[in-house]
Amino acid sequence: MTVQTYPDPVKLSEAAALLFKRKATEAVKKRGRFTVALSGGSSPQRLSELLASDRFRSEIPWKDVIIFWGDERFVPPDDPQSNARMARECLLDHVPVPSDQIHPIPTGGSPETAAKQYGDSLASVWNQSPLPRFDFVLLGLGENGHTASLFPETEVLNEQKKWVAPVFLEEQQQYRITLTAPLLNNARCVMFLVFGHSKAQVLHNVLEGPSQPSKLPAQLIDPAAGKLYWLLDEAAASGLVHHN
Ligand code: 6PG
Repeated sequence: MTVQTYPDPVKLSEAAALLFKRKATEAVKKRGRFTVALSGGSSPQRLSELLASDRFRSEIPWKDVIIFWGDERFVPPDDPQSNARMARECLLDHVPVPSDQIHPIPTGGSPETAAKQYGDSLASVWNQSPLPRFDFVLLGLGENGHTASLFPETEVLNEQKKWVAPVFLEEQQQYRITLTAPLLNNARCVMFLVFGHSKAQVLHNVLEGPSQPSKLPAQLIDPAAGKLYWLLDEAAASGLVHHN
């Protein structure tokens, strides 16, 4: 696990963009493609805009990039809460990823059907391999310790076989569709991107507190044969005792 802290959100997003670029270049050179699972929420917005900017757009082999999502709110694709909508507006509408290489999580029909369909999309890209292996998974951290849509005290935290699962959030009265921990942990590289004072306490609990993944699901994320990066700004890292 690598924990790196940056003075502010701009420097943090630049570092994240440089890591994304490095991993994309390596993956395409070695395997001819770069498979990515994007996160939702607001944290990746600045990174997405930076990757779509003149500074980075021409540096990344977009035609060989294959885009999935780590999770999605079960809302129509044009809903302001949609993770796919945010990614399109900030990144995908501005870079030349072939449209058949962009795989939004379905949000029509039932959550169970959507999860199954998404599993089929993954299987089609990984040619029925036993477990898809993403080159790059981008994750955020919720103030309650969730990541993707792996929320505290939910059944999906115990899922060891399925790649994708529906989750019903009582508090929000909302369904989510999420990749499961075994799938996320099979990635070659996982990057958490965490900004702001509001995450300082939960970040300390996740990184430096006792292991309690049912309450802090982000603690489930530990790629067995991959790199794990926590990229933080100083505000988010202000509660850390042991990490720089
Ligand atoms: C989502 C995300 C979720 C997010 C965290 C952090 O769909 O909301 O995938 O896991 O990464 O909630 O959200 P912020 O970046 O908005 O703080």
